[in-house]
Amino acid sequence: MDGRDERRSNHDHGADVLPPDGQDFPPGKAGAEPDELVVVLDFGAQYNQLIARRIRECRVYSKILPSSTPLSRILELKPKGIVLSGGPASVYGAGAPTCDPGLFRSGIPVLGICYGMQLMAHLLGGEVEAARRREYGRTTLRITERAGGPLVSGLPPETEVWMSHGDLVTRPPEGFLVTACSEGSPVAVMEDPVRRLCAVQFHPEVVHTPQGKDLLANFLFRYCGCLGDWTMGSFIENTIQEIKVRAAGEKVVCALSGGVDSSVAAVLVHRAVGEALTCIFVDHGLLRKDEAAGAVTFFRDRMGMHVRHVEASVRFLERLRGVTDPEGKRVRIGREFIKVFEEEARTIGDTRFLVQGTLYPDVIESGGEGSGKAAVIKTHHNVGGLPPEMKMELIEPLRHLFKDEVRALGLELGLPEEIVWRQPFPGPGLAVRILGEVTGEKLEILKEADAVIREEIAGAGLSREIWQYFAVLLDLKSVGVMGDERTYARAVALRAVTSEDGMTADWAKIPYPVLNRVSSRILNEVDGVNRVVYDITSKPPATIEWE
Ligand code: XMP
Repeated sequence: MDGRDERRSNHDHGADVLPPDGQDFPPGKAGAEPDELVVVLDFGAQYNQLIARRIRECRVYSKILPSSTPLSRILELKPKGIVLSGGPASVYGAGAPTCDPGLFRSGIPVLGICYGMQLMAHLLGGEVEAARRREYGRTTLRITERAGGPLVSGLPPETEVWMSHGDLVTRPPEGFLVTACSEGSPVAVMEDPVRRLCAVQFHPEVVHTPQGKDLLANFLFRYCGCLGDWTMGSFIENTIQEIKVRAAGEKVVCALSGGVDSSVAAVLVHRAVGEALTCIFVDHGLLRKDEAAGAVTFFRDRMGMHVRHVEASVRFLERLRGVTDPEGKRVRIGREFIKVFEEEARTIGDTRFLVQGTLYPDVIESGGEGSGKAAVIKTHHNVGGLPPEMKMELIEPLRHLFKDEVRALGLELGLPEEIVWRQPFPGPGLAVRILGEVTGEKLEILKEADAVIREEIAGAGLSREIWQYFAVLLDLKSVGVMGDERTYARAVALRAVTSEDGMTADWAKIPYPVLNRVSSRILNEVDGVNRVVYDITSKPPATIEWE
């Protein structure tokens, strides 16, 4: 999880205004907490977000808390179950993270995973040792004792699981049955159904453990007695209800960018507070062709929302005049954005709440160890924060959701696929896709060229498999020949990448005929361009955006 460096998570909404990096979010101030909750205590493994996701896929709401969370706080949440996650430490190591042993006496079912298992064994009097050989990768799990083990109920006698551990439990604590083993782990699953405690040495949350979800479901439904009634519909209902109560009689404002997170957040809050919500669309003139007008029209006319379209492109161009340094552009745009937003918000009058599209990964990361050490590659526009004098309370209705859940929520709220599946777009917009100084003329060229690649990729049915595809206007001119005439005109680079999360990326292997169409259309339709090149660099070493 060290992707938080300079960029928080990969937001595709440019204009959201997040609190300054590292600032914690007020707990419980947004999307309502459903009745059935399973807490995941985070001991630092890479896969912890996956545990919460798998649990949610079983329609049980799940939330990750730092392992240091006091037992009293956990009990206040009245969880139906607690999962102790994996982690890189060794229970015997100095400073190893631990938990309050009272947890095991609380009567709440507990599932330990990997380090969580070793910790449970260690604290309850079992034996944990360093393995002679690290067990890493796929291995076969054999059920040894089915009768006493609800956790392994319904699993085949032998099944593949994914292990990654250096320590192992060699003797379970008293009262536990060993219900499965593997070649490297004599105690691969241990269960005490009386105290409702159980643990696994492998990782049920990863896809390499095909029966992992069944095992987690056994924990949720057989140990915890969950009902599994958490759905997007119930989430929407609870969240709207909570916002209604919290914001009753107050004015609410939202920075709408047309990106999926801010759009979904705004629509959800609008359902709760209606006319009391004013969305501010700061149009910095650096959006793609027809994008600003399209977004404003959609939210106003189709969703019936109150949207203020602040046309500020002249101001932004003014700020960008003569600026060629990428960081200089980013910082100026970020500052100007806040200024414009703030000025507009002031005219609304006494506004108490600000809506933000913060997602769950941001919340987890802001509560975790901020690395703070990573080099700043690019200053992200949406990390600027609000000026301190704007003392608004936050409504963050998505702060408990993962990105794919936000998409599902958007569709359920009636947002069209174009918004829900909109490709990521940087906050500073086309300014970081024009190398050198940004001018009105260059913006027009880039908008036209970019519209061509977007149309052609969508037309070829490739828009879902390609993470981002766009045009970049280079800061150079080259010689060409058009109808017997010499030309000396601009060059456009095409950038298209495949990626899982934007942190790493590969250049997209777009079929030649599609590339060919994009190139000839740009050359024919966009004045001032006589050369098109295709960027075949992965990230790293390049970044996705050119600036
Ligand atoms: P890079 O260029 O760093 O981009 O490889 C990774 C992802 O982040 C997007 N990006 C931004 N998103 N504000 C954003 O909300 C920004 O300032 C920003 N800069 C880059 C980029 O489009 C890619 O998806």
